[in-house]
Order: sequence, then structure tokens, then C-alpha cells
Amino acid sequence: MARSSRRSPTWPLSLLSIVLLLFFVSPAVMVKHHDFKRCDQSGFCKRNRALADNVLERGSPESSPYQVDSASIKYKDGQLDASIVKNIGGGNQVKLPLTITFLDRGNVRVTIDEDKRRKGQIELRHGSVARKERYNEVGAWALTGAGLQAQKAAYMKRKEYTEVTWGPEGQYKAVIQHSPFGVEFWTGEEKQVVFNGRGFLNVEHWRSKVDKPQRDENSTEPEPPEPVEDESTWWEESFGGNTDSKPKGPESVALDISFTGYGHVFGLAEHAGPLSLKETRGGEGNYDQPYRMYNSDIFEYELDSPMTLYGSIPFMQAHKKDSTVGVFWLNAAETWVDITKSKHDTNPLTLGLTGGIVDTHTHWISESGLLDVFVMLGPNPKELSKSYGKLTGYTAMPATFAIAYHQCRWNYVSDEDVKDVDRKFDKFNIPYDVIWLDIEYTNDKQYFTWDPLNFPDPISMEKQLEETDRKLVVIIDPHIKNKEGYHVVDELKSKNLAVKNKDNNIFEGWCWPGSSHWIDAFNPAARAWWKSLFSYDRFKGTQSNVWLWNDMNEPSVFNGPEITMPRDNIHHGNWEHRDVHNLNGMTFHNATYHALLERKKGETPRRPFVLTRSFYAGSQRSAAMWTGDNQANWEHLAASIPMILNQGVSGFPFAGADVGGFFGNPSKELQTRWYQAGAFYPFMRGHAHIDTRRREPYMLGEPYTSIMTKALRLRYSLLPAWYTAFHEASTEGYPIVRSQYFVHPGDEKGFAVDDQMYLGSTGLLVKPVTNEGGESVDVYVADEENYYDYFDFTIYSGKPQRTHTISTPLDKLPLLMQGGHIFPRKDRPRKSSGLMKWDPYTLVIVLDKKGEKAEGTLYADDGETFDYQLGAYIHRKFLFADGKLISTDIGTKGSKTINYLKTMKDVRVEKIIVVNAPAAWSSAGEVAVTEDGVKGTRNVEMIYHAATAGKAARAVVRDPATAIGVDWTISFPEASQSGVKTEL
Ligand code: NOJ
Repeated sequence: MARSSRRSPTWPLSLLSIVLLLFFVSPAVMVKHHDFKRCDQSGFCKRNRALADNVLERGSPESSPYQVDSASIKYKDGQLDASIVKNIGGGNQVKLPLTITFLDRGNVRVTIDEDKRRKGQIELRHGSVARKERYNEVGAWALTGAGLQAQKAAYMKRKEYTEVTWGPEGQYKAVIQHSPFGVEFWTGEEKQVVFNGRGFLNVEHWRSKVDKPQRDENSTEPEPPEPVEDESTWWEESFGGNTDSKPKGPESVALDISFTGYGHVFGLAEHAGPLSLKETRGGEGNYDQPYRMYNSDIFEYELDSPMTLYGSIPFMQAHKKDSTVGVFWLNAAETWVDITKSKHDTNPLTLGLTGGIVDTHTHWISESGLLDVFVMLGPNPKELSKSYGKLTGYTAMPATFAIAYHQCRWNYVSDEDVKDVDRKFDKFNIPYDVIWLDIEYTNDKQYFTWDPLNFPDPISMEKQLEETDRKLVVIIDPHIKNKEGYHVVDELKSKNLAVKNKDNNIFEGWCWPGSSHWIDAFNPAARAWWKSLFSYDRFKGTQSNVWLWNDMNEPSVFNGPEITMPRDNIHHGNWEHRDVHNLNGMTFHNATYHALLERKKGETPRRPFVLTRSFYAGSQRSAAMWTGDNQANWEHLAASIPMILNQGVSGFPFAGADVGGFFGNPSKELQTRWYQAGAFYPFMRGHAHIDTRRREPYMLGEPYTSIMTKALRLRYSLLPAWYTAFHEASTEGYPIVRSQYFVHPGDEKGFAVDDQMYLGSTGLLVKPVTNEGGESVDVYVADEENYYDYFDFTIYSGKPQRTHTISTPLDKLPLLMQGGHIFPRKDRPRKSSGLMKWDPYTLVIVLDKKGEKAEGTLYADDGETFDYQLGAYIHRKFLFADGKLISTDIGTKGSKTINYLKTMKDVRVEKIIVVNAPAAWSSAGEVAVTEDGVKGTRNVEMIYHAATAGKAARAVVRDPATAIGVDWTISFPEASQSGVKTEL
């Protein structure tokens, strides 16, 4: 599977002209559908959809063969254990242990196992060495351990059902129906989530294959009857020329989960589609395939599609007006999710004219593993994100450089090339922090080595970058070139740390280096070895400003089934690859993260930067992600916004898309618009395919270079606001860029809006232009607050559910400030974020509609070490009320607080801009500043810019010089004061 340029064969001229014609009339690139399964090509998906269809056809959810053996129910200290019995006909039953644990924050965990497999009482076919249990270690990877403690609950068992109530006010209730098994989850009087209400629960139990007796060709006996069930996909499955040996036979788990009264569901990263997930069972505007989660290297992926992509997070938020609930399906095997919606009217007299209530029904189907699912009873998007973050971990606080601008392409061809690009950025006064090296820097695709011809002196390149506090990121993939004498592969083999094939021999497949083996990062010994490879003396040519990019970790295997590993491959602990597939990428980037922490003994640990393409729930603890190989076209630019918003909903918000588009050459207009949009991606990196033209911002010429530079400068000046938003993500689990429904959970009209984003809690609302020649955009505003243009202070008056049209010449980025907020900036243009470290702050106070109130926060620390965990940080709340702006400390002290504050004592606020400043201030020219630790009060000049037609008034306080890390109060003047300084 060659991804880069391939030599074309010689074609007859006529054929060539047809192909060329097709090239111009059809889209240049298209996903290869035939490489990837549809549901009906995946045995277990097809079987479970058929089961659902059958039940629906018969209209008999109550025929579900699963019953709780009520005698088996035991309840103790917030945990219920019981046996579910599956009736399999002929009086036979399968025992399925059930555990329900009642947790804090309105969460509950339901786990269903299979008794026989738990006890290892099954036989594997083909002499497989695979484990017999259902995979039960996803939690060990995805969960942090927090939030799993069972809570006090009240338990009541009846003949037909068991009821458990829990929560601080006893507001949560689970009603477990015994026959058929099903659970309803309630908050107060409201039924929220229902399990198996539609009767799709399915745990495919282990059974031994009964082979048809060999028949004598001449036999006159009648043929034995065919088995009642269609076994054609039970025992082995072929796709695209590969056969899966399936040593355990069919073993899927599936469940229907309905959200009562919820019309929107979000989450299930990663898919290229709208934020509000679509229905998947056909019908106009719907998909006909379930959302698929099977981490894959999808070459030239398509948009508006439920096809799987590189990463998976099986977490879903269901939202309705003022209420949010969630489901987290803890399974790492291939998973499909069908979504349908049904409408019902609560009032029969309205004849359905009022629109009625929408329920969303979901059907989760996994190939193997336990049925292990969390229900989270919200009650709002913020609380839900927090709950999910508590379970799976919050975003790691990144180093400052990581949220600045990254410059990448496949490839910068030599160390001289890198130095030259670095110099050119400076020459054109364009800020950037990180330059990247793709696979070509290596010697023959052998990671941890350098191409001796083109990169003879990597250290001198890194030293040049260091002069401006810049960094280098190099790529290292999980496939290790299978070449004798290459030290990494020799060690991998001799230490027996690679993934095995179904026969338990080292697995061999193809990737960039040709024949390769894969590190098995599930193995602790492999991870320990991986660490050793990154030490500066082993990975020669690297120093402390070098960080990492992990790509192809789905894993991508060019000659494997669906471009990945065979499912019957074997990992550490003898788990089959099918059980752990979606975790694979995360184990690898985690290993790299930990390796980077320990590159040198005695070195102060710094926050590692790792970019990953593949991910799972929990990846946010150690990496950033990007949306893989997008295309340089307007549709992909537009698609990046809901995809990035969805990463926030799915708890992995440190996300970006290749700015400019990976495949193809963007027009100058497209690239410029992409930089404007990219300035609002949490992770901002320009990247391009090896066959594309150079496109560093300075290459485009005017006016494009200047407009892109302006977008980058905007990103840099807002870095303190971004950093504060990252801090919220790392402590509360909130998205970094937030969607409309997240910020305005009561505004129904905005729930599906997914083309505009709020930056953290700053009130900054951006709506990038994503269409060619886009002369204007319509920004949707949910609330009554005024919004102000960031650049020229045009007022967009707050009327709920209004759309404002903003004209967008190429140099215009539609960015609004919502009234009532305060956000920090650093306005001095520098070459890199590192050089801004000691720069003074600007505070922008965007007063509310009445011109009376605003509030906001700032988080700052050293931007690189872990000292913030010992209190070395500044966390301030700024409140403007009653004519005073007050800065108060909202941090908690630790052993390193005092020292850190000392280092920050000269970092001051150099400017305060008050938007929508009261007219009464126009006749006063000063503010009064009092500062902790400074005697008396000092007066500081304020300049008033009166409101002009349609534009808000501003007041600018010039250099109040208050230290950023201490308490202070600035009193704004009374109207009667003199000393007018007005600029119109
Ligand atoms: C695939 C990645 O998605 C892309 O970003 C990278 O440039 C190529 N691999 C080459 O490493």
C-alpha cells in the first residue's frame, strides 16, 4: 500500500485521456470503501442487527431470553451481584454474572460476564494460546480508578423487579426488571435511560463447534438438517483475502440503550460528521450504517460518514433542554452503534402538531469482551464532562509551546532545510514554536536513527531552534523495520517484546519500512525497554527540546485485514488482538509519554509532548491528537470544526486538524482561511503530504502572508486565555473549545449548531469562514447578552436566538466577545511563546449589556515543569462589579507557591481594555489602583473612546502596573470626576 508517489505505468493515450477527464470531473480522492467493512460484512454486526430487526418485526421485546435469577441477587454496600440466565432452548441455560455498582455523581456501572469463560471452562479451536476469559482489562487502561467507589444506596427487592436508590438526596434510582432483564435509570421523577427496553441484549455465549460428520459420497442416507441458526460467520470470517481463525467462535455483546425524551446525542469520537449524531438505519438524510469504532488508517477518508477513523471513544452524551445524561461503553473491541429516534406526543389532543417528544434509541454492538457500561445521570454537559473526566482522567496540562503554532510537512528534507525554514519565519516576522520531522529524517525508516546524508548534524539544528526557545518534534511509529543489524529490531526480537501472530510466533507485516514487527506496548517489559530507547545517549542526535509524534498506531499494517493487524494476533497476557484493538494506539503513545519523562537521570521532569493519531478513552492523559489525513479542500476545512468540537464532548479536547489540508495543494484563499480557523484549534499545526508544494505562511505572498501572520499573532496574544482553558480541561474535564449546546444547554435551537466555537470560559465566540469566496457568515447567538466584534467593537445586540450576519473580506475573522467576560492576553509580538514568558498582560473586560459586570479567570505557571502540582502557579479571578475591578487568588498554596510568585513579581498588567465602558466615564481620566503589599493608592491614566455608530465605547487603562500574582483593586471613576481624556 504505497502512500507516497508511485511510478505510473505506461498507459495507452486514449485510456489516459479518459482517466484525466475523470480526474477533473470527479473528486480527486476517494476512500477505498472495499478496504473496510460495512455492518453486513462483519459477522457480529450483521447478526446483532438481524436480531434487532427480528425483535422489532415481532414487536416482542419481552421475548428477550435473559432473566435475572432473583434468588441469586445479593446487595452489599452499593453493589448488586446477581446471575442473569440466558435461555438457549432445549431447557439449556447459560449463566452470566451481573454486577451493578452505584457510584458518586449519579454514575452507575453495569457489567455482564460469562460464567464458563470466567472459569476458563471452554476450549479454543486451532490450538490457539489465547486467553479463555472475556477481556476484562480495558478498565486498567482507560480508567484512573477515581469515581469507582461504591456509594451508599437503598435497596428493595420485589418479585418482579429490584429497586435501588442512591445519591446525596436519594435522587437517583435504578429499577432492575427481572424478566426479561432490563434496567431503567431515573433522576427524581424522570426516566432517563433504559437498558434492553427494546430487547436487543445479546451475549453470544461460548459453544463448541459441532462439525458436520464427513459424508460418504456414495451414501444414500438423507443429508442431516442444516443448523437452525446461520453459522456462516461463527467459526471463521474472511474479508479482502484475509481469514480470521476465530478460535473462540462468536462472542459478541450487544445492548439497546434508550434515552427517554432526548432528541440529540453527541460524542463517539472519531467520525467525520455533524456534532449531533445522525440516525443510522436509513431514511432521508440518515446513514444506513451504524457508527463504527475500529481504529483504522482510513486513506482519504470521506466526510459526513459513520465510517470508523483512527481513534475511538465510546462515550455518548444525550442532551435535551436543560438536561444531559451519558453512557460510556467500556469495550476495546470493534464496536458499532446504531442510532434511531422516535417521536411520541404526550398530549393526544394536539394530534402530533406540537412536534412531540423525541426519544433516542441506541444499539451498541461489540465483537468481544465483557459487557461493561457506565450510565451517567448528568445533569448538565459540564457535570457530565467532569464525571467522565473523573473516570478516565483529565487532559494533561500541556507545556506552553504545545499550544502555540507547529510547523510540519512531510518532509523537511535536511537539517539545513529546517534551519532555513526557521530563519525564514524570523525574516517574515511570523511566530512559531515547533518544527516537525516526518519519517524521512530516519536512516531507511529505522526509528531512533538519522539519515546520515541529510541530517548529519541534528544537534546543531536543535541548538539553532533553542536560540529562540523553539522545539523539534520527530516522528516515531510502532512498526520496527525487520532488518538484521538494526539494533532496535534486534532487541525487540531477542527480548521477545513484539506482537505475535495466531501461531504465537512474531508477527510480521508491512508498513513504511517494508517488512516490520510491532512493539507490544501492552507488555510492561516492552514499555520499560521503550523508555530506554529515548535516553539521550541511546537516541543520539536528540536533546531536551526534542519531542514526539506517534503515527500509524491503530496499528496501520499495509498488507493486513482492513489495513491493520489480524484479529487473531496475540498480545501480552495472551489476549487476542480483537479484544484490545481500540486500545492499541493508546498503549503506544502512553509508553512514549513515559519514556519522555525519563530521558535523563537527574533532569527536572518536564511535561512531555506527544501527538497521537490513534486513541481511546483515557488518551487525554498523555497526548494530543489530530484528525489524520484530511484534504486541502473547503469541505474538509468545514468538517474540522464539528470534529474538534466532538473531541471536546468525548473528553479528549487537545485536538487539531492539519491546517491547510494534508492531501493536495490548497488555494491561497483556502490556506488563509484555514489559518484563521486553525488559530482556534486547541492543537494548531500546519502539515502537508510529501507530494504537495511548499506552503509555509511566508511562501504565499501578499496579502495572504500578512493575513496568516495576523491569525498567528492572534493565537499568540490569546495564549494566556488558551492556557487558562487548558487548565479548566485539566482540572474539570471541560472541552477547550465548546459547542453551542455545551455553553447554552437550555437553548434548543442551538443544540445542532456545530460550525462555531467558544474558547473555554472566555466568552470568545468564533465562526470561521469555511466556504470559497465567503463574503459573510451568520453567527448564531443564543442569549440576551451583547456580543462585540473582537477587532472593531461592533455591537451585536443580544436578542435570544438571533443570527447576526458579519461581512468577511479575506482579512476578516469573525470573532465576537460575549458581554460579561474578562480574558487575559499578551500583546507583545515575539518569535515564540517561550520568549513571551515574562511579558506583561493585557486584560480585556467585556462588560455586560448594562455596563455593570464582568468576570473571568487566569491560570499561569512556568509552562514546562510539574511544579504546578506543588502550587507553583497563579490562579486569579477577576471580577468587575460596582465600578471596581478586583483580582483575587483562587489557587491553593503548595510548597512551591512562594518561590514561584517571587519569580513572577515583576510580571504586571500593562493594559486594561474595558469594552462597553459606561458613558459616565467619558469625563474622567483616571482610575485608582490599590495593590497588596504596596502602600497607598495610585492614580493611573484612562483614555475613553466614546461609542460611535454601532460600535461600543471603550476605556483603556494605560499601565496600571499591578503585579499579576497579587490581589489588587482598581476603582473606576465617578462620572463627576474631571480630567477628561476622550478620543473619538
Ligand atoms: C500518515 C500521517 O497521517 C501523516 O500525517 C504523515 O505525514 C504520514 N503518515 C507519513 O508519516
